[in-house]
Amino acid sequence: MKKLTEQLEEIVKAGFERAGYDKKYGFISVSNRPDLCQYQCNGAMAAAKEYHKAPIQIAGDVVEGLRENSAFEKIEAVNPGFINITVSGELLRQAGVQMMTQERFGLERSAEPRSVVIDYGGPNVAKPLHVGHLRSAIIGESIKRIYRYMGDHILGDVHLGDWGLQIGLIITELKKRQPELPYFDESFEGEYPEEAPFTISDLEEIYPYASGYSKEHEDYLAEAQEATVRLQEGNRGYRALYDHILNVSVVDLKKNYEKLNVEFDLWKKESDAQPYIPAMVEKLKADGLAYMSEGALVVDVTEEGDKKELPPCIILKSNGASLYSTTDLATIVEREKLFAPKEIIYLADKRQTMHFTQVFRVAKKAGLAGDDTELTFIGFGTMNGKDGKPFKTRDGGVLRLETLREDTSTEVYKKIQENRDYEEAEAREIAEKVGLAAIKYGDLSNQASKDYIFDMERFTSFEGNTGPYILYTIVRIKSLLAKYEQAGGRVSPTGESEKLLAPVQDSETGLYLTLCKFADTVEAAYSERAPHKICQFIYELSESFNRFYHENKILANEDEERKTSYIQLLVLVKNVLEQCVELLGFSAPDRM
Ligand code: ARG
Repeated sequence: MKKLTEQLEEIVKAGFERAGYDKKYGFISVSNRPDLCQYQCNGAMAAAKEYHKAPIQIAGDVVEGLRENSAFEKIEAVNPGFINITVSGELLRQAGVQMMTQERFGLERSAEPRSVVIDYGGPNVAKPLHVGHLRSAIIGESIKRIYRYMGDHILGDVHLGDWGLQIGLIITELKKRQPELPYFDESFEGEYPEEAPFTISDLEEIYPYASGYSKEHEDYLAEAQEATVRLQEGNRGYRALYDHILNVSVVDLKKNYEKLNVEFDLWKKESDAQPYIPAMVEKLKADGLAYMSEGALVVDVTEEGDKKELPPCIILKSNGASLYSTTDLATIVEREKLFAPKEIIYLADKRQTMHFTQVFRVAKKAGLAGDDTELTFIGFGTMNGKDGKPFKTRDGGVLRLETLREDTSTEVYKKIQENRDYEEAEAREIAEKVGLAAIKYGDLSNQASKDYIFDMERFTSFEGNTGPYILYTIVRIKSLLAKYEQAGGRVSPTGESEKLLAPVQDSETGLYLTLCKFADTVEAAYSERAPHKICQFIYELSESFNRFYHENKILANEDEERKTSYIQLLVLVKNVLEQCVELLGFSAPDRM
């Protein structure tokens, strides 16, 4: 379907041609002075140079030939050479009809669907999910949904961190506490128990304890490092313990992510890439890319034009151990083999920028990733507390994600207590949904690379640029539609487009104009990997709607045809808003 801006552009381009100018000057943009007009064309200014004429004269020539066109309510040339456009209500009605009758509201999918992998979440086994993991999950989930909506075949991979010292620390601590367990008995040859010797709460206590203890006791740390190496070498008892740690963690992680409305297609782990390392290292050596430097195996990654000097990427440490970059490189090899993706997207803290630059360069240099495979790093900023420092608990510890979620629902729960007319259980459910929207919208409405302040009071407010405000708008529409039905009206889920009338009133026109930005918005959010653009759009749409709601009689309208037309418009706005929040990764309750 042609977007409204495209339709206008076609008409204005033809206008330029008819007046004897190149049609390339007929480009259209949404007006930045909505008080004067809705759309504008600034092409006469550029054309002036080519034709050695005053821009206003060119604009005037073009407008002359377009004045009679029924697409415009008004088209005029204004100094110094702008063409200001106000479109006709009929054109807007047609745009509304198209949005209602076409799939995805007329948004065209990308011409060639691509295979894409998105690596997000990135939690570490045995460590509780904390707020540091929040942004990766929230932003990654939204980007995945946007790509999918645009038609790409995208797989979300949680890429569990399971290959580090944390496992060695847990094994060491367990051995200290329960030395009698068969996992530590080298001579044990029987079957290990199926049941893990610990629960998730045990793990959550053991890991921080062991981690803290290792910082003060060198021999303990050495023992944990030794245990990590032995596990990686395949020690049978340690391997069995690792499996328990993994299983217990994954069950808990899945529960946590489910509550966040975050769903992974793949639960792969850093260790899954290990089998690819030896051949990859051999290739790097054989290609003459990897060389020994101070005992370590490294690859140079500097490129002409670098502003800062990039240190070489270390592939193997002097003791032969692999590192984070080794695993990431081997994971690229694995993903190429399994999915042949056209793009791999990574989400991680922006402090990992250098790591990813190094990894991507080695991958390209060595041909581990195909020439036409795009490697994209989305580095996000920090979520800070009101003091501007990384968000902490009151006693200075890292805040668990679960706690943040619970605190936010509690805050919302308090707010919905006044004048609620539903049961306790529903109130709890609503509070969870709205709380999640508060967290996600608060995050996603910022550009990913920027830091932001988590402000509980503001994020959970039902007014202003917040998740709850957007949901409140959806709920308001739902309740209007329900009342209309109770009074005997009929509401079709996709709206009855033939009942739509051309807008006559200002705020109604405004609402149409905002709706028309849907396709451009989603396309921009896709190509720029920028969910915040969708947030901006739904905030604008909610504001437009609420203005329309306050300035017009909807259910009480005496004009039956107008009323029915409004109902269709309401259905369209609701569906667009719901689709957008779905792309952001949350949803609206039926009331709140
Ligand atoms: N587990 C890592 C961390 O906690 C994030 C992993 C990001 N993904 C990747 N392929 N490196 O920092």
